[in-house]
Amino acid sequence: MSGARKVYIKSFGCQMNVYDSNRMADMLAPEGYAETASPEDADLIILNTCHIREKAAEKVYSELGRMRLIKQAAARDGRLVTVAVAGCVAQAEGAEIVRRAPSVDLVVGPQSYHRLPGLLAQVHRGERAIDTEFPIEDKFDALPAPSREATRRRGVSAFVTVQEGCDKFCTFCVVPYTRGAETSRPVDKIVTEAQHLAEAGVREVTLIGQNVNAYHGEGPDGRAWTLGQLLHRIADVPGIARLRYTTSHPGDMEASLIAAHRDLPALMPHLHLPVQSGSDRILAAMNRRHTRADYLNVIARVRDAQPAIAFSSDFIVGFPGETDDDFDATLSLVEEVGYAGAYSFKYSARPGTPAAELADQVTDDVKAERLQRLQRSIDRHQAGFNQRCRGQTFDVLFERMGRHPGQIVGRSAYLQPVQVMADAAIIGEIAPVTITDLSTNSLFGTLARPVEAREPLLMQAGG
Ligand code: 5AD
Ligand code: SF4
Repeated sequence: MSGARKVYIKSFGCQMNVYDSNRMADMLAPEGYAETASPEDADLIILNTCHIREKAAEKVYSELGRMRLIKQAAARDGRLVTVAVAGCVAQAEGAEIVRRAPSVDLVVGPQSYHRLPGLLAQVHRGERAIDTEFPIEDKFDALPAPSREATRRRGVSAFVTVQEGCDKFCTFCVVPYTRGAETSRPVDKIVTEAQHLAEAGVREVTLIGQNVNAYHGEGPDGRAWTLGQLLHRIADVPGIARLRYTTSHPGDMEASLIAAHRDLPALMPHLHLPVQSGSDRILAAMNRRHTRADYLNVIARVRDAQPAIAFSSDFIVGFPGETDDDFDATLSLVEEVGYAGAYSFKYSARPGTPAAELADQVTDDVKAERLQRLQRSIDRHQAGFNQRCRGQTFDVLFERMGRHPGQIVGRSAYLQPVQVMADAAIIGEIAPVTITDLSTNSLFGTLARPVEAREPLLMQAGG
């Protein structure tokens, strides 16, 4: 279609932003916007932003500098480009963004992006549009389902938001302010979304939410369902072979969820369970509402339910008041749990959060030194975990073509990228692979038996 408008969307930060970006694209498709991968071609540029740490928020402003140049170049060709900021920086900074970056035409928070068409109309009338409300209407009700073509393009593994916001108020974290109070989507709507995805070839669904295991959405029986119940229901959707969920709070690992790790073969034996620190003193100052012992107890219960489980986590180093002893407690927790991988961050003081006001901030040098030591320890555990995969045979879900001709990339149950030489028809299939070799970030293997292609799910058709 010549003359169609184009939208370029760039996601920063978490998986929820990736999901939201897709939904914004779905919302704009009926308005005549096709997605483009290059901002130079776009009539509408959306930066879907992250506010979790200062670095993430600052990245947005440098990106906005680039977008301003693109907008100016287009204007010289007589082409009008709209620049929009969405996501958590939009929510947290609102009109301040326009003051710092006057080329921005539109600011929309994560709870109001279903209003994009109206906001764009406002911009096209020559006004600036800023919407950072927490509207009472459910944005998900206003969002169109993704087209089959869009889902195919996005691949065999998809996110589904089931829960949003957080009521935990960890003292370092902006999420309760940018994403608002904890809310859960009703079971029926999530199931319908999963069915649509499955019909378009999706095999793996990751249920996402800022505090996903606090899920308590309304079930078809009118009662609040747990995440464990929801996982059982989604496992029944034909075509969905793998389930995951993220991100969880250790305090909300309820019994039905732990039992699902024992009872549901589709639920992958991999759990991202952020702990943030191994020191009880720091956990209390963070208002994490759990101790080190509580956390280890949850780990033990999940291991008991699913002995094959592997854990990953998030850590913050240099939280205000963190001493050498506190940090050593974090290092010893890493040894004790033996994570398959983890993310670690220097504490970043965020405006408006209680911890930012604390007096005993840790210097950047100390944070940098601790981060390096922690990452070295995490890397050692991750390398050990990957080493133990050598010679093993396990199921891989094949997702896409690799970088080299004939190479196909899939993922293990533990989210490790696995590369094999195979026919492209295998994309969308799950097949056993014997691991023969490893690099820092990937496993390499050979198909353990020839794969019979299933009929309807060949990804090269259509899209
Ligand atoms: N500083 C550093 N890291 C943070 N995180 C959240 N807030 C901050 C902050 N102010 C980390 C936590 C969380 C992950 C998503 O980001 O580890 O689990
Ligand atoms: Fe932030 Fe997670 Fe704590 Fe909620 S539970 S406040 S999202 S770190």
